[in-house]
Amino acid sequence: MLKTTECGELRSANSGQTVQLAGWVDRRRDHGNLIFIDLRDRSGIVQIVFNPEINPDPHRLAESVRNEWVLQVSGQVTPRSADTVNTNMPTGTIEIVAEELVVLNESKTPPFNINEESDVDELLRMRYRYLDLRRPGMRDMLQIRHKAVKYIRDFLDARGFLDVETPILIKSTPEGARDYLVPSRLYPGKFYALPQSPQQLKQLLMAAGVEKYYQIAKCFRDEDPRGDRQPEFTQLDLEMSFADEEDILDLIESLYTELFETFAPDRRILQKPFPRISFNEAMERFGTDRPDIRYGMEMSDLGSLVENTDFRVFQSAINTGGIVKGFSAPGLGEMPRRQLDDLVEFVKGVGAQGLVYIALASDANSIADLTEDNIKSPVAKFISIDVVKQIASKTGANPGDLLLIVAGPSKSTNTALDALRRELAERLHLADPNVLAFMFVVDWPLFIWNEEENRWDSPHHPFTAPQAGYEQELELDPGAAMSRAYDLVCNGLEAGGGSIRIHQRDLQNRVFQILGYTQEQTEARFKQILDAFDYGTPPHGGIATGIERLMMLLLNNDSIREVIAFPKTQSFIDPLFEAPDFVEEGQLKELGVRVLE
Ligand code: AMO
Repeated sequence: MLKTTECGELRSANSGQTVQLAGWVDRRRDHGNLIFIDLRDRSGIVQIVFNPEINPDPHRLAESVRNEWVLQVSGQVTPRSADTVNTNMPTGTIEIVAEELVVLNESKTPPFNINEESDVDELLRMRYRYLDLRRPGMRDMLQIRHKAVKYIRDFLDARGFLDVETPILIKSTPEGARDYLVPSRLYPGKFYALPQSPQQLKQLLMAAGVEKYYQIAKCFRDEDPRGDRQPEFTQLDLEMSFADEEDILDLIESLYTELFETFAPDRRILQKPFPRISFNEAMERFGTDRPDIRYGMEMSDLGSLVENTDFRVFQSAINTGGIVKGFSAPGLGEMPRRQLDDLVEFVKGVGAQGLVYIALASDANSIADLTEDNIKSPVAKFISIDVVKQIASKTGANPGDLLLIVAGPSKSTNTALDALRRELAERLHLADPNVLAFMFVVDWPLFIWNEEENRWDSPHHPFTAPQAGYEQELELDPGAAMSRAYDLVCNGLEAGGGSIRIHQRDLQNRVFQILGYTQEQTEARFKQILDAFDYGTPPHGGIATGIERLMMLLLNNDSIREVIAFPKTQSFIDPLFEAPDFVEEGQLKELGVRVLE
C-alpha cells in the first residue's frame, strides 16, 4: 500500500510515530511561513503541517498543491499545542509534521466544493457523481448501506437462510409495471425481460427444496417516476417453505427492529410489536394503504351527515356511488383566504373536483356552542349549523380548526385527501422525524376491480393465496375474497410487501382465469411455475423489502436518489453515462431490431 495509516484514525496516542498517508487535499491554508493541508481519505481528515525550516523541499512543493490533488505524505505524528487543538475534528489533538511529499495526481478545480455540504444542483452532482461521493454525507451513506446490508446477511445466515442468485435475463413476469426488454441476437424477434422481482424464481426455489431463501436482488421496473422510485432498485427478497404469516412477519419485525436500534439508535420506534391494520381500515381512516400514523387528522366518512344538505356536489357524489369524506386540520381555522384558495388548487392538482372547507373560529367555547357567526365557508348557506357541528364532532375538531371535505368517486377522493393530509402535516411539522411508525397492513382483498380496464387486478400479484374460507367462492364474488398478503409500512412509505402463496395448480389456474388470462396465455407465461406445483411444491410464503426505502428511513431522507451510489434522475436519465443513448446501426442490425421514427 502507498500508505501505512488511515488519516482519520490518528489520535494523541500515536504521537511520535512516523506514518505514511495518502489521500486528497481537502483544504490548503498558506500562512506565509507555514502551509497547512487537511488531508482526507475515506476514514476522515488529518492536518499536515509543512515547515520550510524543518523540511524545505516538501514545503516548496506544497505551495503548488490545490484542492483535490492526490498526495502521499510521510511525517511524524506530533501533539498540537493547547491553543491550536481543534475540538471539531476527531484528529484535532495532533498534526503530521511533513517530511516527504509526493504528488500522486493533480486535479482540476472541481465543479462544486467537496469540503462542505453546500447546496449543489442535483444534476451537476449526478454528472460528477464520483466527486459527489467524496463528500462526507455521501461517504457516510455508502458506509451505512454497506453495514446495513451486511447486518441483514448475517441475520438471515444465522437463521438458516441460503443466499441464492437468480438470473437477470428471464421472461416477462407480471408485477404491475412494464418490463425492460433485452433483444436476443441468437433468436431474432425474441426478447428476454429483466426481472421486476425474482417472484417466480424464489417460488421455484421452494419447489427445489431450498426451504429458506434470501437474496439482495436487483429489480427493474419501467413505471411512472416518483420521489421514492427508481427504474432499477434493490430488494431484500426472501421466501420460506412451511411458514405462515406469523413466521414471516415476526422475522421481518425482528430484523427491522434490530436494524433501526443498531443504525439509528436515537430514533424511537412508535409501537412494538408493530401494530397491524387491515387494508380496509387503512383506506377508511387514512385514504391510503400506506398511512403515516405519526400524526392524527384521521378521516371520517361524512356521507350520512351531509346526504340531506342542499349542497349539490355532496348529493351527486352520493347518488353516483361516490363518497363524501373529510378531516379536521388542527389550528388552521384562521387561515387567510389566499392560502385556503391554494389548498383548493392543491386538491384539484391531485385529482379531486374540488375542496370544501369550513373554518371554525377559535373564539367559540366548544363545538356545541358554535353559531353561524363562528364559521366561515363558501358553502355555509347550504349546510345548517347543526350539520357543521355533527361534522366537527365526527372529525374530532375543536374551535380554531379547519374542516376539509372532498366529495367524488371513492378512489380519487381518497387519493386527494391522502395527499392533502400529507401536505398539511408537512406544512405544520406534525410528523416527528425522530419517530418510526412501523405497521403491517394486512387483510388485503385478493382482487381489486380496475375501472379503466374493466377487469380484476391483483393488488400484489397473482401468486397470492386467498384466506381460508374464500376458496370456494372465488368465481361467485371475486371482490369479496380476502388474501394472505401483507405490507410493511413506515412513516407513510411502503417498505415491503409479500404474501403466503398459492401452491396448487388448480387454484392458481382459477386465479389466472378471474384475472382474465386465457388458457393459452396462462400456459405461455406461467407453465414453469404451474408445472412445478405438480411435483410436490411445499406450502410457502415470503416478502420483499426495498433496500433503498430502508436507507431512506434510516437516514431520514425523502429522496431515493440520495441513498444510491449511481442513481437515475427523476426522469430516469443517467447523466453520468448519458444513458439511455442511441446505439450504432450495426448493433441494431445484429440484434434484428429496427427503430420506428
Ligand atoms: P413489491 O412490488 O411490493 O413486491 O416490492 C417490494 C418492495 O420493493 C420496493 N420497491 C421499490 N423501491 C424503489 N423503486 C421502485 N420502483 C420500487 N418498487 C418496489 C418497495 C416494495 O415494498 N415479489 C414481490 C414480493 C413478494 O411478494 O414477496 C414484490 O416485488 O419497498
